[in-house]
Amino acid sequence: MRTHYCGQVTETLVGEEVEVCGWVHRRRDHGGVIFVDLRDRDGIVQVVYDPDSPKVFEVAERVRNEYVLRCKGKVRFRPEGTENPNMSTGKIEIIGSSLEILNRSEPPPFLVEDETDASEEVRLKHRYLDLRRPEMLQRLKIRAEITRQLRSFLDQRGFMEIETPFLTKATPEGARDYVVPSRTHQGKFFALPQSPQLFKQLLMVSGMDRYYQVVRCFRDEDLRADRQPEFTQLDIEASFISEAQITNLMEDMFRDIFTHVLEVALPHPFPRMTYAEAIERFGSDKPDLRIPLELVSITDLMQEVEFKVFSGPANDPKGRIAALRLPKGGELTRKEIDDYTKFVGIYGAKGLAYIKVNDLSQGREGLQSPILKFLPDDVVDAIMQRTGAQDGDLVFFGADKATIVNEALGALRVKLGHDRGIIEHGWKPLWVVDFPMFEFDEKENRYVALHHPFTAPVGSVEQVAADPEQALSRAYDMVLNGTEVGGGSIRIHDPAMQQEVLKLLGIDAAEAKDKFGFLLEALSYGCPPHGGIAFGLDRLVMLMTGAQSIRDVMAFPKTQTASCPLTAAPTEISPAHLRELGLRQRQPAATE
Ligand code: AMO
Ligand code: AMP
Repeated sequence: MRTHYCGQVTETLVGEEVEVCGWVHRRRDHGGVIFVDLRDRDGIVQVVYDPDSPKVFEVAERVRNEYVLRCKGKVRFRPEGTENPNMSTGKIEIIGSSLEILNRSEPPPFLVEDETDASEEVRLKHRYLDLRRPEMLQRLKIRAEITRQLRSFLDQRGFMEIETPFLTKATPEGARDYVVPSRTHQGKFFALPQSPQLFKQLLMVSGMDRYYQVVRCFRDEDLRADRQPEFTQLDIEASFISEAQITNLMEDMFRDIFTHVLEVALPHPFPRMTYAEAIERFGSDKPDLRIPLELVSITDLMQEVEFKVFSGPANDPKGRIAALRLPKGGELTRKEIDDYTKFVGIYGAKGLAYIKVNDLSQGREGLQSPILKFLPDDVVDAIMQRTGAQDGDLVFFGADKATIVNEALGALRVKLGHDRGIIEHGWKPLWVVDFPMFEFDEKENRYVALHHPFTAPVGSVEQVAADPEQALSRAYDMVLNGTEVGGGSIRIHDPAMQQEVLKLLGIDAAEAKDKFGFLLEALSYGCPPHGGIAFGLDRLVMLMTGAQSIRDVMAFPKTQTASCPLTAAPTEISPAHLRELGLRQRQPAATE
């Protein structure tokens, strides 16, 4: 139906007859001349209709936004002064000689423009229109390019793409499972995979050696800007490989896609940081290294002070007191400080003490703070020294259980970075390593795996069993600009170790057999040492396109409450269908 895409019609075609198809982006009536901006996947081209060809002109008059047209005409240079340097087709226009309306459109609920003020609900309900917006289209194009480049990199290095089942058994990755009732086995359910973790390990037992898959994963968890109930992983596993080999290979892959897609050179090698250091300095295991602010521990200075808010946590083995210096923070207003105090409250902090540093040379007199009266001179001096405070700065304090202080000040650090516009430009990748193997869950009163239960610990079965709290795992996370883009580990390949780790997690032999018997059995048939990683493809694309949310890089995402305004899923199913599945619906719990 066409000779060219709209965006391809440039000055090299001047004098030639072309035929293009697309949607009416804009139609302008200029004193008897009609201009139609015609849009397709490739760009926008201007077609001009003048009344000298009355038949065609009459059709052009009937055209409205988003009508689908087929236009034929000769390409000519635009008259001087009317060129548009921002468009690839900005030097030319097509003089329309024939025009066919292929389809009409209702007036769209929002204009198909780069910038839109339509609500996300409306955009998702009419996602097919939203995806016509050049900004959205561009993101999906980059997504396709990134996936293509990743596949090509892995193919060249001997990785084989293999599909794994969606209708399967629970794979624990820390979220709730989406389940699918079985018709042929009534009362039984499949779980949709939270990741292909166990299958990729089984593929290593099979000797596939190097596997990858661009694969959908399903997790029923609380949603955020970087979390969706179904999302895509680039999932990777390899045999006979060490931590250094796999992380180096993955770095090469990242440098490769950043060079090809964004023409950006990432560092070589990526920096590595232990989990303990990341928490100590940034309060987070996914620190954004573009923000030049750090937490400084002052727990040891506070054991003797009278101020209970500080001395309490200072004498609690699980407590921490940390300072966060904000250069030029003296400018903050009372209201801003109050707002930051509310902000840290979200993370459980009971307050946010601060000291304003007006003039260091004046000692105490040069400082301003509601807590100054509680602190002796030597402590104040030590705080100023340790934080490197300078005139005009403000130092924030958090005092509580270490987990609360880390979360609260870690989040405050990121917020201050954004609010104060002090985030450095560019890309800061980081490997976080030496994670603890287990974390004690106070609520459940048991250990949980920091990664997943198939991650290998450092040390022997006996060493791990003797002191689980101190055990480190052979896991690694890749962090990019403060987002966890990927995580992986060397796996357990010894059935005895696997059984011990499950036991430490409170899973007894019977439950282990029931849940993971197939894995334990497979490990006993000559499982090679192996390891791997999975990247959140949506998160990576979000970062690489500068999008605010992973919803903006998915064609058909779900809302924050895990529904789809376009199809209205999830929906009820008919009583007959329920019967067929052997299910009966409970009355919804009565609302107060
Ligand atoms: P993990 O659970 O860390 O590891 O997941 C790997 C990466 O997937 C991304 N991700 C998500 N992206 C969007 N929405 C979500 N709900 C979501 N959850 C996770 C993150 C994360 O780093 N099987 C292991 C990997 C391995 O050990 O090889 C796993 O799934 O970017
Ligand atoms: P209060 O003694 O409760 O009036 O608090 C004095 C100052 O300490 C206020 O600025 C509070 O915001 C701050 N504060 C209270 N609890 C904490 C805490 N757990 N961590 C940090 N600062 C706190």
